[in-house]
Amino acid sequence: MADELYSPTPEFSQRAVVSSRAAYDRLYRAALDHPEEFWGDLARQELHWFQPFNKVLDWQPPFAKWFLGGRTNAAYNCLDRHLSGARKNKAAIIWEGENFEQRVLTYQDLFRRVSKLANVLKRLGYKTGDRAIIYMPMVPEAAVAMLACARLGIIHSVVFGGFSSEALKTRIDDLNANLVLTADAGQRRGREIPLKRNMDAALAECPGVRHSIVYRHKGAEIAMREGRDHWWHDLMFGAPEDCPAEALDSEHPLYVLYTSGTTGKPKGVVHTTAGYLLQTHMTMQWVFDLREEDTYWCTADIGWVTGHSYIVYGPLSMGATTLMYEGAPDWPEPDRFWRLIEKYRVNVFYTSPTAIRSFIRLGDQWPNKHDLGSLRLLGSVGEPINPAAWKWYHQVIGKDRCPIVDTWWQTETGAIMISPMPGAVATKPGSATLPLPGIVPDVVDLRGEPVPAGQQGYLVIRRPWPAMFRTLYGDDERYRQTYWTKIPDVYFTGDAARRDADGYYWVLGRVDDVINVSGHRLSTMEVESAMVRHAAVAEAAAVGRPHDLKGQALVVFATCKGGVPKSPELVEELRQWIGHEIGGFARPDEIRLVEALPKTRSGKIMRRLLRELVTADKISGDTTTLEDYSVLLKLSAEGKEEEEILEQKAKNTRS
Ligand code: WT7
Repeated sequence: MADELYSPTPEFSQRAVVSSRAAYDRLYRAALDHPEEFWGDLARQELHWFQPFNKVLDWQPPFAKWFLGGRTNAAYNCLDRHLSGARKNKAAIIWEGENFEQRVLTYQDLFRRVSKLANVLKRLGYKTGDRAIIYMPMVPEAAVAMLACARLGIIHSVVFGGFSSEALKTRIDDLNANLVLTADAGQRRGREIPLKRNMDAALAECPGVRHSIVYRHKGAEIAMREGRDHWWHDLMFGAPEDCPAEALDSEHPLYVLYTSGTTGKPKGVVHTTAGYLLQTHMTMQWVFDLREEDTYWCTADIGWVTGHSYIVYGPLSMGATTLMYEGAPDWPEPDRFWRLIEKYRVNVFYTSPTAIRSFIRLGDQWPNKHDLGSLRLLGSVGEPINPAAWKWYHQVIGKDRCPIVDTWWQTETGAIMISPMPGAVATKPGSATLPLPGIVPDVVDLRGEPVPAGQQGYLVIRRPWPAMFRTLYGDDERYRQTYWTKIPDVYFTGDAARRDADGYYWVLGRVDDVINVSGHRLSTMEVESAMVRHAAVAEAAAVGRPHDLKGQALVVFATCKGGVPKSPELVEELRQWIGHEIGGFARPDEIRLVEALPKTRSGKIMRRLLRELVTADKISGDTTTLEDYSVLLKLSAEGKEEEEILEQKAKNTRS
């Protein structure tokens, strides 16, 4: 059966940045044949340089450097260069709080705040190369903090506000950070999130942090520690507005963002300045087809890479108006997103399949109450979007008028890699379609050989790209091992995919021990290590189970230490424990306390079996015990090794 094809309408194509399939093909060809010329020309045209680069790419696999010898600054590109023309009084950030407060910051406003904060940081003694943690709610000041760091070359690491003090501490330690920017509290679904209190708990064991700067957001009751903690508004009062942007090397690290890997320790993904900025900037044009007058809204949190690339750096570099919303999608009522779109006349809307599926469940009456006529383009990111959700999004939100860009990328890739160009490429529901210019993916087997069209394999990227991460912070070896050795000579994404006869990519999901819960990457190993830190737990194994709404749900099997009785109270305590050790969003959907975990002869836990157990409807929930499985295992000739998980074909969990 042929796939359903949605072609761009002539009205859309006519005004699009890339307006025909032939134009896309030409761009792709040019980048493929002459990558350095292609990216070099764009970098010269699209970015401001304090000093021009003299070499486009230095590729010593797996280490890349882009735009060598060049000097630039991300904050300068996002702010200063917009101040001389018509954009100076254009809204840069439109913010709405969960309680309906509203703020609008023009480019000049934002520039002034960033410059002042940069001066504050200087006065406290911070300089290029220092490392700052940003642990803030979704307020414009989070972007101000990022840009002030970028202005001085201070490497920032945003820690999602949903992370616990334990997770915060781990990140401060790994980064050896000496500064934290936070707020008294955040808000979600009417509840306060005690950010400052969490920071205090983390800093009790992080003596390297000399100062913290606290933005007063909710007026929450907090304790300030003399000499260490400073109120944001106190420091900003009277700070000079003139703070020239540092001319930084193209390869100066812009930020480190921690993401879950296949061990208990999160990976510090390092992004640098020029290449990252160029590709986020270009994808705003290629994928979001941005127009000067657009109001653009990406619903991600600033704590994830989507927030970095598509709320802050990409849109601001383009001089766009970016909407920022603090709260939950269903607060106070399930129509909050649609209300926002109507109120601010949003033109380009970018959200996740999880959000879309939950809106489907809430009912069409909520979007139907609102005028969504301003929308021109819809985007999706974070996980595979199932065709049914895609079609609902197209029909009920886009009124069959708006193209959908299903954008595949990762924290590591920094920017969108595979996605339709909406005026050029016909879409198929569920497919991220074709690679963007300069991106050379492939679907291969474990030896790196391409698999035939229509067959599943591993998604890899064959050539370096400008926004690629450069390493894992302080751990080149783990970078090499994790991404560049499993399949020879290429970047291994950790995803399974197939490419159809038209060259369209269908990303199927992760093949490693990483699960994707509501578009948030969670490491099963991280959860397991947290579990066994609890006094009652002997062993733990965490796996993902398909979930209608969240994509995957987290299920943890655990055995107790001798003499500890299993009880519902203990299960609840362990759920809270995970919330404490990692963050509320990581709390397992289910914890099963069992007598034993199935293991191979060599003693490795067979997560594959557990995955099957929780996935197969006929077994899950009934009385089949794990011991039966261990017995079953003993009977089977060989205990399969964990590495075979990689060999195992990923299942499209929601097909
Ligand atoms: C993983 C990356 C990139 C921003 C958000 C997540 C999955 C992401 C898609 C998509 C199918 C997708 C992949 C990828 N993923 N976008 N459009 N179609 N899968 O960033 O936390 O680094 O997770 O999310 O499995 O590897 P992340």
